[in-house]
Amino acid sequence: MTEAVHTRRVFSGIKPSGGLTLGNYLGAIKRFVDMQGQGFETVYCVVDMHAITVWQDPTELKHATRELAAAYIASGIDPDQSILFNQSQVSAHAELGWIFNCVARVGWMNRMTQFKDKAGSNAEQVSLGLYAYPSLMAADILTYHATHVPVGEDQKQHVELTRDIAAKFNHDFKVPDFFPQPEPIIEGPAKRVMNLRDGTKKMSKSGASDMERINMTDSAELIAKKLKKAKTDPEPLPDNLDDLKGRPEARNLVDIYAALSDQTSEAVISEYAGAQWGRFKPALADLAVDKLSPISTRMAELMDDPAEIDRILAKGADKAAAIAEPILAKTYDIVGFVRSR
Ligand code: AMP
Ligand code: TRP
Repeated sequence: MTEAVHTRRVFSGIKPSGGLTLGNYLGAIKRFVDMQGQGFETVYCVVDMHAITVWQDPTELKHATRELAAAYIASGIDPDQSILFNQSQVSAHAELGWIFNCVARVGWMNRMTQFKDKAGSNAEQVSLGLYAYPSLMAADILTYHATHVPVGEDQKQHVELTRDIAAKFNHDFKVPDFFPQPEPIIEGPAKRVMNLRDGTKKMSKSGASDMERINMTDSAELIAKKLKKAKTDPEPLPDNLDDLKGRPEARNLVDIYAALSDQTSEAVISEYAGAQWGRFKPALADLAVDKLSPISTRMAELMDDPAEIDRILAKGADKAAAIAEPILAKTYDIVGFVRSR
């Protein structure tokens, strides 16, 4: 039903909270680039309001916002073809987020595994914003009536909650089909890129050791060093993926190779069947450097002209607001807010 009523529109976002990893690139940015020109309107956001759910140094937040915008552009997001902007410049996100705080139920938030992971045993001390985070994320998506949301595996539950919020709003206010039911798009071999030192943990910006992740700003030498030192096991590569069960580090490197080379993991394992790590790791390092170095070089060039990045974000925010504001105005009317000016 959603497809027929609503324009095919993609929305996704990434937090400007510290450096970007290979997980962000393969699980998100690269897939955002692939969705351009595929019959969707594409809207990509730097979600700075989500970033502040945990403490961010203000100067570093500005830097990380521009750096993430540079990463999007350097990776192939074309600001003329996609809408690229930072969340806080379009006030509809916060405004719809409040309404959704009043639609979503506390019990729904209590089921969010990412909150439980992030809050840990410290749940009384974390910000209220961290708790309400998924409701703002629902507003990000639904203030554009977005129908498709490309994300990594870890965000699936939040997109499902977005669907629940849309359904409850439509039901409570008797406006069937007003908000679409957005589809999470979780595809490809890099749904969950794992830590290079422990293949059972996700590669993340915040892990303790820099050797466990690849950052998008790492030099070619550092990328090669990290991949060559990545934890593995003594066995050579098998000729099929089933035989990688119980070998999470090996599986992760095969998946990274597949994602970087636009192949399936099956194709990679058949190409490297029987290979020792001494052959596979240098090939992976060369591939990673080949794909990532031009991006980090371009990012650095873009970062030399922050005013130009700000101009691109301003233009993107205007285009985003032109879609979001009429949808927000209609939502206010549905909710019963008097608008007398
Ligand atoms: P974040 O950095 O948490 O704002 O994440 C931004 C996007 O990157 C989301 O779509 C995440 O699912 C994705 N992402 C982050 N880390 C990984 C990872 N290790 N593997 C795959 N996708 C990831
Ligand atoms: N919560 C996402 C993450 O941590 C980032 C995000 C915020 C997002 N708003 C979004 C992703 C809307 C997709 C759509 O990765």
